[in-house]
Amino acid sequence: MPKDTTSDASGAPSRRSLQPAAASDLRDETLLAHVGNDPQRHFGIVNPPVYHASTVLYPTLAAFKRRFEQRYTGVTYGIHGTPTTFALADAVAAVEGGYKAVVVSSGLAAIRTALCAFVKSGDHVLAADTVYGPTRHFCEKALLPLGIDTTYYDPALGEGIESLFRPNTRVLFLESPGSLTFEVQDVPALARAARAREIVTILDNTWGTPLYFKPFEHGVDVSVQAGTKYIAGHSDVMLGVITVNTEEHFRRIKDTVALYGDCPGPDDCYLALRGLRTMAVRLARHHASALQVARWLHDRPEVRRVLYPALPSDAGHALWRRDFKGACGLFGVLLRAEDEGAIARMVDPLRLFKLGASWGGYESLIIPAFPNETRTVRRWSEPGYLLRLHVGLEHPGDLIEDLRLGFDRLNGAPG
Ligand SMILES: Cc1ncc(COP(=O)(O)O)c(C=O)c1O
Repeated sequence: MPKDTTSDASGAPSRRSLQPAAASDLRDETLLAHVGNDPQRHFGIVNPPVYHASTVLYPTLAAFKRRFEQRYTGVTYGIHGTPTTFALADAVAAVEGGYKAVVVSSGLAAIRTALCAFVKSGDHVLAADTVYGPTRHFCEKALLPLGIDTTYYDPALGEGIESLFRPNTRVLFLESPGSLTFEVQDVPALARAARAREIVTILDNTWGTPLYFKPFEHGVDVSVQAGTKYIAGHSDVMLGVITVNTEEHFRRIKDTVALYGDCPGPDDCYLALRGLRTMAVRLARHHASALQVARWLHDRPEVRRVLYPALPSDAGHALWRRDFKGACGLFGVLLRAEDEGAIARMVDPLRLFKLGASWGGYESLIIPAFPNETRTVRRWSEPGYLLRLHVGLEHPGDLIEDLRLGFDRLNGAPG
């Protein structure tokens, strides 16, 4: 067994790093710089090593037989986590203000795992009409054939959600702000109503991030997020994180992850932990630059509306101000123009805003958005062409210039 691995009394390898509870007096930026690291265990080296593991060796027959008892905390087999995975999980849980976290292989895997941990055949799920498209596809294409029915609700509903509860409703799924159109939900009101009926609240907190929205202060039970986005932050990792508020929920999630055989790659966990260390400074820059670009767009005659909760003109601004500590770099822009040919003349030659899915990396992105492809309750009826922008870490002046030249082309200037 390597010298830098601790053992518990049974001799089985065990986990030991700064736990979230031990760091509760520290501010977020400080937590980001330290939680999950344990240099004393690794020859004084600051960052935890990347453990590539399938087999884990045990010193005795008795220790090997006890490994199932240790599956929630110990290093027992590669698929159940290594010190690298645990370091990342501990760090996210600490910053998000949760009890513990589990890392999985993608954001969508986090959503799927969290949903499946709490529902069985015959149960009912309530999901915001504005959830990430693949979340909805999972409900329709995977849960429905198993006899688990989902009702979609207007994201503007607060405590009124009660009227949609059924005796068999087990999960209330939120995403705030919603995908593509960025409606802010009244999370505390929704979570309060659900808790009164012992319905588990799951929130997709990818936009809010563990820094800018604290789900457990607002009554949420389970927070899922795509670590792919701001946690990793460099457009090179697929990862999901599920953070929970109790040991019971932690065990349920761990058991479900084990059932599905989900396993994040160790190098990806390392990269995500490395990304997490700088998340506060990156996000502050994303917020400031996105606000500057959004304000500029708001004043452009070609723009009908900017969909960004951090803008005072946004319908969700009051809720955002009340509940969030910041805003990330992702927002929508509704153009007055509708002709796709003209919009392609604007978008295709952009130098800095590149066309590509995902977001949360250091670079700026732009894609068309078609909310009605996945909406049934709150159909999108505004005229115009919707674009989704991710404002990266470039200089905002350069980004604005890129868009200004794009508007010139939209208005007929040669490309
Ligand atoms: C809000 C939201 N949740 C979850 C995901 C899924 O993350 P991943 O791409 O890691 O599966 C995405 C991806 O775009 C997203 O935008």
